[in-house]
Amino acid sequence: MRNPTEYITALLGLSTALASASPIATEKARRDASSQGFNPFPLDNGFPNPDSKETDQIQQQALGTLPNGPVPDNISGEGLFNLQIIALNEIFEVAFFTELLYNVTNNVTGYEVEQADKREFIIRTLTAVQAQEELHALNANGALQHFGHAPIQPCKYKFPVNDLDSAIKLANTFTSVVLGTLQDVVEVFAQMGDTALTRSIASVIGQEGEQEGWYRFFQGKVPSELPFLTTATRDLAFNALNQSFFVPGSCPNIDTIPARTFEPLTLLTSSVDSNTTSLQFSFVLTRGISEDNLKLVYINQQNVPIVEDFDAVKVEGDTVTIQAAFPYAQNEMNGLTIAVLAHGDQDSLTDANAVSDHTKFGPALIIVN
Ligand SMILES: *[C@@H]1O[C@H](CO)[C@@H](O)[C@H](O)[C@H]1NC(C)=O
Ligand SMILES: *[C@@H]1O[C@H](CO)[C@@H](O)[C@H](O)[C@H]1NC(C)=O
Ligand SMILES: *[C@@H]1O[C@H](CO)[C@@H](O)[C@H](O)[C@H]1NC(C)=O
Ligand SMILES: *[C@@H]1O[C@H](CO)[C@@H](O)[C@H](O)[C@H]1NC(C)=O
Ligand SMILES: *[C@@H]1O[C@H](CO)[C@@H](O)[C@H](O)[C@H]1NC(C)=O
Repeated sequence: MRNPTEYITALLGLSTALASASPIATEKARRDASSQGFNPFPLDNGFPNPDSKETDQIQQQALGTLPNGPVPDNISGEGLFNLQIIALNEIFEVAFFTELLYNVTNNVTGYEVEQADKREFIIRTLTAVQAQEELHALNANGALQHFGHAPIQPCKYKFPVNDLDSAIKLANTFTSVVLGTLQDVVEVFAQMGDTALTRSIASVIGQEGEQEGWYRFFQGKVPSELPFLTTATRDLAFNALNQSFFVPGSCPNIDTIPARTFEPLTLLTSSVDSNTTSLQFSFVLTRGISEDNLKLVYINQQNVPIVEDFDAVKVEGDTVTIQAAFPYAQNEMNGLTIAVLAHGDQDSLTDANAVSDHTKFGPALIIVN
């Protein structure tokens, strides 16, 4: 047990860390200056390049440390791709939670929380999450550097939210994609012989799941979403991030990531619930992509993807609006569903990897319950 002096010193250390990490004046200035997108980096604690003293502060704010055991000497090429995707995503998350914490702390319109104890708990939680995501990013970028590769650099970001409820709902959505993608990451590490890197990923899957439980609870949803969470792939996550949150052309070294690029698929149906039986989407016809043999595919839970035909209901210029069945009731399609347009059929699109490899448009993200 700690003696009282140690305890007080630790507390003082913590409050210093919180104060110096709190994203107040400089963040505001950066946001105002960045009508072209939000880039809060470097943070006041030096992230994404903190020195060792700043890393200590981040660890105190994160309520724990970076892994301090040995890292293997070698890694597979696919393993490097894994680390790049993780870094790309985690740096985006740091930007998001930095701005969300700023908004709540400063009572930005739409982010005011009346009840004092609720407000204090939200700020305490987001303060921990912000730093925990910083450590996830530093761990992945640190490993890239250890293996002789360039760390992933921050982009400029856009977040399509203006109030606390929408921001938490968005955090719920992107975290569910992360929870699916880390399944892919851990499988690829295992297949490629990068066994030593699997255990820490499994620990992060649990960590992101704990966050997800709170984002769901906040919305009045059952904290545990599904018995087996929806899977995803690195390419699906990459395109979800790039299409929705990155200012085009703002990511200095995104081109070093060997992900495939998809065209956007926009979900038009505004609220999807357990009574929804069909959905409308739109996409922009793109030169070089054949419309023949395109199917609407849903990835949900750990199940064989659902492949549906669709009808074109409207064509306006290059923009095509389509309608397809959403077989919720037959398949208990709760939680995250990832919708894409892919080339193939029910016989070839038998798992998430096959779907992802044949995707042309997407992903569109749907969460029921
Ligand atoms: C790393 O090196 C060890 C020892 O040479 C080898 O057994 C292992 O397969 C290598 N791993 C990868 C991912 O290349
Ligand atoms: C923070 O508030 C601003 C102003 O309403 C908004 O534009 C931005 O999207 C918000 N960010 C987050 C992460 O909620
Ligand atoms: C935000 O509002 C709370 C009351 O809900 C108040 O205690 C706090 O000082 C305000 N903070 C700022 C930065 O305006
Ligand atoms: C990212 O998305 C933009 C459109 O927002 C697109 O032009 C660009 O090709 C995409 N980048 C990659 C590397 O996929
Ligand atoms: C679905 O429809 C049933 C019967 O009309 C209704 O009782 C239920 O509230 C609806 N569910 C949702 C999520 O709207």
